[in-house]
Amino acid sequence: MRTQVGIVGAGPAGLTLARLLEVAGIESVVLESRSRDYCEHRIRAGVLEQRTVDLLREAGVGERMEREGILHGGIHLQFAGERHHVPMQELTGRAITIYGQTEVVKDLIAARVESGLPLHFETAVESVDAERGIVRHADGELECDFIAGCDGFHGVCRAAIPSEIVRTFEREYPFGWLGILAQVAPSMDELVYAHNPRGFALLSLRSPELSRYYVQVGHDEDIAEWPDERIWQELRARTGLEGWTLEEGPVLEKGVTGMRSFVAEPMQHGRLFLAGDAAHIVPPTGAKGLNLAIADVRVLAEALVRRYESGGDDLLKSYTQQCLRRVWRAEHFSWWMTSMLHRLPGDDPFDLQLQLSQLRYVTTSETAARSLAENYVGLDVV
Ligand code: PHB
Repeated sequence: MRTQVGIVGAGPAGLTLARLLEVAGIESVVLESRSRDYCEHRIRAGVLEQRTVDLLREAGVGERMEREGILHGGIHLQFAGERHHVPMQELTGRAITIYGQTEVVKDLIAARVESGLPLHFETAVESVDAERGIVRHADGELECDFIAGCDGFHGVCRAAIPSEIVRTFEREYPFGWLGILAQVAPSMDELVYAHNPRGFALLSLRSPELSRYYVQVGHDEDIAEWPDERIWQELRARTGLEGWTLEEGPVLEKGVTGMRSFVAEPMQHGRLFLAGDAAHIVPPTGAKGLNLAIADVRVLAEALVRRYESGGDDLLKSYTQQCLRRVWRAEHFSWWMTSMLHRLPGDDPFDLQLQLSQLRYVTTSETAARSLAENYVGLDVV
């Protein structure tokens, strides 16, 4: 089989790229190792930058997002028994939209299926040949002009770049997040990021009826140690305020997420272009992962359109550089938010005072608040 662009992975990066190429009249085949059901139900992040929303809308897949997405103009930072509002929209002119990545994926799959274009689930890719543009999978080979490696951190595509060419940068954090999806109306108007001596907690949501809450736990925490009541107790203890109650409801889903910062450079080799988690990971504290993935494929789609329309490969050549500037800004921001809000094993009273001072600074200085806000809502070009 032959195609113009072979796309490995049907997550947000792969599916959005496929849609952008479809709009531009460029042919692609999407191969995904998991089932459609798995892709449509794995629970991931839920914060979309304005730019991400605009791109999905322009690509014609934003109809349900516009109906069901919830616009937020700010976040709350909570520490030392106080909850402070950071009015991001007022400070930057931009808002964020709460709409689950799971929903974005469902919308993109539905659009692809409706267009009748190739999207093969349960088709594991075994290896890719970056030089020759060949994707080897369970049912045969796909010959491509270009390959988009959108198969996540554990995918096979990154390994196709020779190890003597790739440089990786990495930081692991000695903690994780235990997340729950609960069937209860959110107890707060906007997201709450809570610093607490017991550890970090985050109050988020998915809809007017569904709350998404997290608590910092140990690295590789055993979920069996966390019956629902223990999770609620911990959430209450870390986010409690006088005169405010965290409403509880049935827990529909729970899981532990590890925390990692990772960048692979270059993001391109031969005919292969990496996008999203295949090339870089951020800890979830800055809500940047999905937005970075979409930003990568916007750059890649533009470069491919240029190549097919005029034969020019200047944008393809600058792909790594274009992406990594934004990626490193998000890496720094996510690391910074993570460091400011979590308890580290072995941290001492000095570390704690530094965190509290930083939190007080970003919630009282308009300049510092604007810096946080512009990173959170997404910087244009860096
Ligand atoms: C989420 O709603 O899942 C969420 C929100 C904000 C974050 C991370 C995750 O920083």
